[in-house]
Amino acid sequence: MKRPPRLLLAIETSCDETAAAVLREGKDLLSNVIASQVKIHAEYGGIVPEIASRKHVESIDFVAKQALNEAGVRLDDIDSVAVTQGPGLVGSLVVGLSYAKACAFSAGKPLAGVNHVYAHLMACFLDKETAPEFPFVGLVVSGGHTSLYRVDDYLSVDFIGSTRDDAAGEAFDKVAKILGLPYPGGPVISRLSIKGKRDAFSFPRAWLPDTPFDFSFSGLKTSVLQTVRKIESMDVEIPVADLCASFQEAVVDVLVAKTLQAALDQGVKWVAVAGGVASNSRLRLSMERACIKKGLNFTSPRPIFCTDNGAMVALAGFHKIKNGLLLCSDADVYSRMRP
Ligand code: KG4
Ligand code: ZN
Repeated sequence: MKRPPRLLLAIETSCDETAAAVLREGKDLLSNVIASQVKIHAEYGGIVPEIASRKHVESIDFVAKQALNEAGVRLDDIDSVAVTQGPGLVGSLVVGLSYAKACAFSAGKPLAGVNHVYAHLMACFLDKETAPEFPFVGLVVSGGHTSLYRVDDYLSVDFIGSTRDDAAGEAFDKVAKILGLPYPGGPVISRLSIKGKRDAFSFPRAWLPDTPFDFSFSGLKTSVLQTVRKIESMDVEIPVADLCASFQEAVVDVLVAKTLQAALDQGVKWVAVAGGVASNSRLRLSMERACIKKGLNFTSPRPIFCTDNGAMVALAGFHKIKNGLLLCSDADVYSRMRP
C-alpha cells in the first residue's frame, strides 16, 4: 500500500464533457467543474468526434484551473493526478491524458489512468450516506455502455454481462432522432414520457435467455422506427409522448429485470445503478420498487454524478494511486473496453 493521495486533481475528457475535480483525502470533494459541449453537438444530432477533441483542447486548461480555483488550491499543492484513459473517443481522451501527464510528470507527481466505466461505478461512493455496501451488483448504463458487474471491493470488480449492440443511452439518443427530438435524447424522452401512456405501444424486450445478463436494444430501436413509419403513412399526428413512454418502459423493464436477476444470482444485498441513463427518474423508481420487493437495497448517485464528471474519476484514481497502480510516461489511451 502506497501513501494515499492528499489532494488529487482529476481530468475527464472521454466524450463531450470537459471535466475536472479536486478531491481531498479521498472523501472531500472540493470542486467539480464540467464544461458541456452538448449545444455544439446538438446541431449535428450527435457527437462529432473531431469537433469534440478540438473543443477539449480549447477548454481543458480553463476547466482544470477553475477546478483548482474553486477548491482554493494551487497546482503546486496537488500531490497526485488521475485521468480517464479509456474507453471513449480517442481524440478526446488524448487531450485529457496529455494535459494530465503534463501536470503530473513536470512536477514528479504520480498519475493514475482510470477506466471510464469503473469511474461511473465509483460515483456511487461520492455521497457517503447513499454509498452501497460490498458486495453489490452494479449496472453502468450510459451513452456508450450497458454492463453489469459484481463489485466486492474498490478494486475488485468482475464483469457479469453487457450489451451486444447499442447501449441504452444510445438507444434513447437514436429514438429521439427518429422522433425529431433534440440531442441528447435521454433527458427529452424522459421529460415527454411523463405525459405519455407506458402501455400505448408494446415494444419488444430482448430477454436473451441463453445469455440472461447480456442486453440488446437494436431491435427495440428498429421497432420504434417501423412504428413511426407506419403512423406517418397513415397521415395522422405522431403520438410522441406515448411513443416515448412506451419505449422508455421497454428499456427500463429489461434493465430492472436483468439487474435484479443478477443480484439474486450473485447473492448480494445491494444494487447500484450508475452512468448517464441512471439519472432517468422512471428507471430509478422502477429499480427501487423492484429491489424493495425482493428485499434488496438500492442506490444510485445524484444525477450530477451520473452523467460524465471529474469527481468520479477523482475517486477512482484515489483508489488506484493508494494501491500503487500508476501510469508510465509513455502510457496511451484506449478506445474500447478492456478488463
Ligand atoms: O454517462 P454519460 O454522460 O456519457 C457516457 O459515458 O456515455 O451518458 C450520456 C447518456 C446519453 O445517451 C444520454 O441520452 C443519457 O445518458 N441520458 C439519459 C438521461 N440523461 C442522460 N437517458 C435517459 N434518461 C435521462 N434522464
Ligand atoms: Zn460516461
